[in-house]
Amino acid sequence: NLDIVIILGIILCFSVLSQCQNVKSFMEKHIVQDNAEIICNDTIRNRNLRNRDGCRPRNTFIHDTNGHRIKGLCANIIESTVIISDMSFKLTDCKMQKGTQRPPNCAYKQKGETGKIHITCERNNPVHFVTFDVSFGVSWSPSILFVVALILLRELLTLVILT
Ligand SMILES: *[C@@H]1O[C@H](CO)[C@@H](O)[C@H](O)[C@H]1NC(C)=O
Repeated sequence: NLDIVIILGIILCFSVLSQCQNVKSFMEKHIVQDNAEIICNDTIRNRNLRNRDGCRPRNTFIHDTNGHRIKGLCANIIESTVIISDMSFKLTDCKMQKGTQRPPNCAYKQKGETGKIHITCERNNPVHFVTFDVSFGVSWSPSILFVVALILLRELLTLVILT
């Protein structure tokens, strides 16, 4: 019976260890400081982010210092679950340029975005970035568009009545 305890212990140890690895690699791949203006070319090279067979085709950075807000999103989620954030995050989306060279000379186009993120949480921690939905700025929220449409409609009606 002691054998079983030891074996269980070893299995647990490995799974916890791999868990730590996942969180660590998530942070390394996806987390940058709140207000940092990053250059994809530089950050991806400095962090040595690459695929086994070459440059990473795409990588999205989330501006969330130390991953505080994201860890909050994963709190109390034990089983592997994809969640969508209620709030929007500042993001820097990096896409590999055509004809790019091999690591460490990967060249990226980049775009600043704001969006809700889809991430996989496991045992209270983020482990995988899935995708994001671009959020529209406040000035183009549906209600404002509706008001603009009403104003245009009124102008149009006035025009029709006068002519
Ligand atoms: C990234 O590197 C490529 C290739 O050197 C270059 O064309 C591009 O302008 C760089 N992007 C930025 C934002 O510096």
